[in-house]
Amino acid sequence: MNLGFLGTGTISTAVVHALAPLGHTIAVSERSAANARALSAAYPNVSVADNAGVVTAADVLFLGLMPDVAQGLLPALPFRAGQRVVSFIADLPLPEVQALVAPATAESLVLPFPAIAHGRSPLIAFPQSELVTEIFVAHDVFAMDSAAEFAAMLSAQAVLSPVVQMLLEAAGWAATQGAEATKAQDFLRSLVASNLTASPLAPLLASLSTEGGYNARLRAHMEATGSFAALKSGLSAL
Ligand SMILES: NC(=O)c1ccc[n+]([C@@H]2O[C@H](COP(=O)([O-])OP(=O)(O)OC[C@H]3O[C@@H](n4cnc5c(N)ncnc54)[C@H](OP(=O)(O)O)[C@@H]3O)[C@@H](O)[C@H]2O)c1
Repeated sequence: MNLGFLGTGTISTAVVHALAPLGHTIAVSERSAANARALSAAYPNVSVADNAGVVTAADVLFLGLMPDVAQGLLPALPFRAGQRVVSFIADLPLPEVQALVAPATAESLVLPFPAIAHGRSPLIAFPQSELVTEIFVAHDVFAMDSAAEFAAMLSAQAVLSPVVQMLLEAAGWAATQGAEATKAQDFLRSLVASNLTASPLAPLLASLSTEGGYNARLRAHMEATGSFAALKSGLSAL
């Protein structure tokens, strides 16, 4: 496919790393010049163009822009009927994107994550789109059934950075107790990733609930001191 990326920042760069090895012809916009240069140097099928050149070259366009930039930029670009647009802009509802890219079609609002650059990764998408499923065939596309479900998962995915911080805190604590810091981080990453991959959440938690065990005691402490209530109120406040 002929793919184009408007905005070559963090998320577009990660997605290009995921898609370029599949042989698509890809144009990326010249902003974030260092990213654009590195991508075109890494893949012979990636070229750099100005925004209008990207739109002209592509049949499917990805929007990796901040909402205010998109609102100012997109109406002036030469979108054409038959083009399809996949937006990564979390804070811009798809009907607004549609108004900005007409006569092209705003196909879906998709949230990829930076890990997509390195291998199989989940994405959330609304509405469900065959095009998105086809393009991200090597990944796990979670299609949302409604705008409300998309909004809920947009908030829920923010649990990722507190989880990462918990691992950093635990590794840092272990280092103060005699563990080697890098080894502690590597071990905890492997521990959490392998267990989460191996099992759904409820059975995993049940298997980590041995009465009086380390896991059960730490979880009870965090429950008693309000950590999980804070998580829920934080999610509600996003
Ligand atoms: N980061 C994530 O994990 C993630 C995940 C899912 C969705 N998203 C969404 O993706 C969007 C981009 O996020 P990001 O983290 O990738 O941000 P970012 O790294 O700041 O990327 C924004 C890009 O927009 C470019 N840009 C600014 N003005 C432009 C213009 N007039 N013409 C063309 N490009 C222009 C920037 O170029 P310069 O650097 O030259 O200014 C940069 O390449 C956001 O709406 C965000 O909600 C992000």
